[in-house]
Amino acid sequence: MPTDGLFISFEGIDGAGKSTHIDALAAALRAQGRTVTLTREPGGTPLAEKLRALLLHDAMDPLCEALLMFAARRDHLQQVIEPALARGDAVLCDRFTDATFAYQGHGRGFDLATLTTLERWVQTTPQGRLRQPDLTVWFDLAPEVAARRLAGARVPDKFESQPVEFFRRVAAGYAQRLADDPVRFARIAADQPLDAVRADVMAACGRQAWWREVAA
Ligand code: TYD
Repeated sequence: MPTDGLFISFEGIDGAGKSTHIDALAAALRAQGRTVTLTREPGGTPLAEKLRALLLHDAMDPLCEALLMFAARRDHLQQVIEPALARGDAVLCDRFTDATFAYQGHGRGFDLATLTTLERWVQTTPQGRLRQPDLTVWFDLAPEVAARRLAGARVPDKFESQPVEFFRRVAAGYAQRLADDPVRFARIAADQPLDAVRADVMAACGRQAWWREVAA
């Protein structure tokens, strides 16, 4: 059980289609009487959004990329996430630290032990607790299907333009994170029609102790 607000992250490879479901869940939580803070990573604060622009478009070495991801996360946690949780909000975050393990760790091959150290530095609260989402909704989609969905959709950024092999490694990274922390994760089969994916997201949330049923 969360001790204060509620922290939900959304993950998946590019093209897995998480955005519309985040909005739908935000609406459902508001209907339950919760105040919702909708945010994203990298980003969510003026400083972190500047770092996002660099991260998504500028070439840099893997260590620099990992450090900037965590620098953005630190600012985001301090400025937005922790204050929102302290107020009792539901914080819905489009990607969080699992993305760093999946993309920088498994995708780029950056050292996972170093990422674990950075995770501890950046996400330890003043009370000494390691801040993690209460629930992570993982949209699991085959990289080939995601690539077809992304093709021609828009001008790809630095990550979206990676080859399918990169996304195979990223997907394996998410699977590893789930295996390491199965209670926190809800895996959603993202290759289904939109309505079925949405129903699965709501069902995964409905199994949580914090979910409040609203009379129809
Ligand atoms: P994304 O969340 O997909 O936003 P949009 O819907 O606007 O494309 O884009 C963020 C990109 O950043 C995505 O390709 C994954 C990448 N990323 C990392 O590589 N590491 C991280 O820690 C985070 C949070 C994101």
